[in-house]
Amino acid sequence: MKKLFIVANWKSNKTINETEKWLHDFSGEFKRNPFSLDHKEVIVSPSFTLLEHSRYCASNLNLPIELATQDISPFDEGAYTGEINAKQIREFADYVIIGHSERRKNFNESDEMLSKKVELANKYGLTPIFCVQGKETQIPSDSPIIAYEPIDAIGTGHPDTAENAEDIASFFKRNHGVSYVLYGGSVTSKNVKDFTQMPNIDGVLVGAASLDAKEFYEIIQNA
Ligand code: PGA
Repeated sequence: MKKLFIVANWKSNKTINETEKWLHDFSGEFKRNPFSLDHKEVIVSPSFTLLEHSRYCASNLNLPIELATQDISPFDEGAYTGEINAKQIREFADYVIIGHSERRKNFNESDEMLSKKVELANKYGLTPIFCVQGKETQIPSDSPIIAYEPIDAIGTGHPDTAENAEDIASFFKRNHGVSYVLYGGSVTSKNVKDFTQMPNIDGVLVGAASLDAKEFYEIIQNA
């Protein structure tokens, strides 16, 4: 059975209280209806301000989740006011999402800057989840996990077809030596299996539907 990565990308949402409630609700779902996570890696990616408390609560509740951050600085430690660097993040998270289209668009992140982020993530032992928008997206070397996220499918309720996502996933594995390809864009508990049952799709990156603990739990269950 292949390994699946199920990633919750909370984007710029939730306060500490809301995070605590989500984690308790999520824990409640698991207690009510436990199932095996042997082949599923569940990763939650909250904002920087929520990482420490998420880690504390997840450990107290014995939750089988890993944490990711949604970004890191393109610079190493030093005189970069306002930046949070990979070495600092490593104290809280195991993964980092890099190259999301919202960052490319709203913060003008360039391919060169994204390569730098991937390099620093790897330097400090954070596993990058590198987002690509299509076959033409440049992938930095040492990006073992990529997430194919077509822009038209993000937050629109109109996911890509599973067949097209599969075609893109096999393209990246064949041509770029990528180990795992996730699909992201309007994934819900109803359509997740369409994607994860494809031979070259190794999981999903979930935005809006991950904000609700019960829905995210059902996505994991149905994947
Ligand atoms: P969505 O977002 O699930 O809300 O479409 C996915 C993403 O942007 O990672």
